[in-house]
Amino acid sequence: MDVSLFGPFKTGELVDTPYSVKAFVPYPLPPEIDLAKLIVPLQNARDAIAELRGASRRLSNPNILVRPLQRREALTSSAMEGTFTTDDDLLIADAGMDEASDQASIEVRNYLRALSSALALLQQDGLPICHKVIRNAHAILLSGVGSHRGANRNRGEYKTDQNAIGGQRRGTENARFVPPPPAQAQICMDQLEAYINRPNRDETPILIDLALVHYQMETIHPFSDGNGRVGRMLISLMAVERGLFDTPLLYVSPELEGRKDQYIDLMLAVSTHGAWHEWILFFLNVVEESAKGSIKVVDKLINLQETYRSRVTQATKAANAVGLVDMLFDTPLVTVRNVQDAFSVTYRAARSTIDKLIEQNILVEVGSYHPTVFIAPEILRVADRE
Ligand SMILES: Nc1ncnc2c1ncn2[C@@H]1O[C@H](COP(=O)(O)OP(=O)(O)O)[C@@H](O)[C@H]1O
Ligand SMILES: [Mg+2]
Repeated sequence: MDVSLFGPFKTGELVDTPYSVKAFVPYPLPPEIDLAKLIVPLQNARDAIAELRGASRRLSNPNILVRPLQRREALTSSAMEGTFTTDDDLLIADAGMDEASDQASIEVRNYLRALSSALALLQQDGLPICHKVIRNAHAILLSGVGSHRGANRNRGEYKTDQNAIGGQRRGTENARFVPPPPAQAQICMDQLEAYINRPNRDETPILIDLALVHYQMETIHPFSDGNGRVGRMLISLMAVERGLFDTPLLYVSPELEGRKDQYIDLMLAVSTHGAWHEWILFFLNVVEESAKGSIKVVDKLINLQETYRSRVTQATKAANAVGLVDMLFDTPLVTVRNVQDAFSVTYRAARSTIDKLIEQNILVEVGSYHPTVFIAPEILRVADRE
């Protein structure tokens, strides 16, 4: 880490490490910020969020939006992790191994489980956003992934060794940024936890807080690996916890992925130059664009439902076929039993309606489940990038 980059700014302290480098320990939040300069971008981001909230209500079940968005978040958040480049994908494909898609489904599954487990801790167990919630999310997020992606490296535990960001090789020597040593990181996390749950928190606009907390979390880098993924999940989680949405609808990774260099440079500039204003502006813009992206997904879902309805209407006279299409936009995963119950029909009738939708390429059977499960892949993947 190039210590000469750090100006005489009051953003933190440089401390010694057991290695030949200094580490940066950020001061606790909040910094001094001039909110007046942020009014317009803040309002733009808020407007986009309000619009997304409204758009989601056009869906018969707004929850339908959550899963496709989480799927895209999981894939892009992991893609940003850096070890899994397009080249790796090609190599794997060339070698005739299907590891790529397998790895992706593990990451999607982990992401879904980690976020819903965190939400359960908040909403059912009544916990605040605290060490336990954060470490639990980390443990689930990194379970069962290859060791090059951070598995088994203190899963669910804060770091016990000095870590470093952005070096050519592992190690602190050439690192671009050296976060706090383990002991200081623990103190910083205690302070961050206290900041997130401070009594007068509603005095700060939520979106500003999200920007501050994300920078702080990434700069502390409390885990040996997986900090980016957990930190970005925390944004979605805090948006729900602070009442921005009833369901988690804010996901920033798809937007950040395309602006990764800027994302990282701006966080570094906060540490080196106290460039809070630039970072917050960037973050607000990312939130705005993320919300707009999700509104497009709402539109796509509504169009897809119309397409399915007319496709099915033309292909069959069976009344329940259209009903089943609508049902899939409520839950894109059904069993024969679900369909029997929904329409009060026999097993045979339900199965035949499902078959009609299979013929129309709307449903597919997923193997090896009992009872058999049918999913609507286009609905589940409606948010995937082309
Ligand atoms: N200079 C920096 N200051 C603060 N955070 C940074 C910096 N550079 C990168 N980051 C954050 O660190 C993340 C990478 O850390 P890592 O622990 O490998 O997480 P993951 O394995 O989930 O990508 C990036 O996605 C970014 O959020
Ligand atoms: Mg990593």
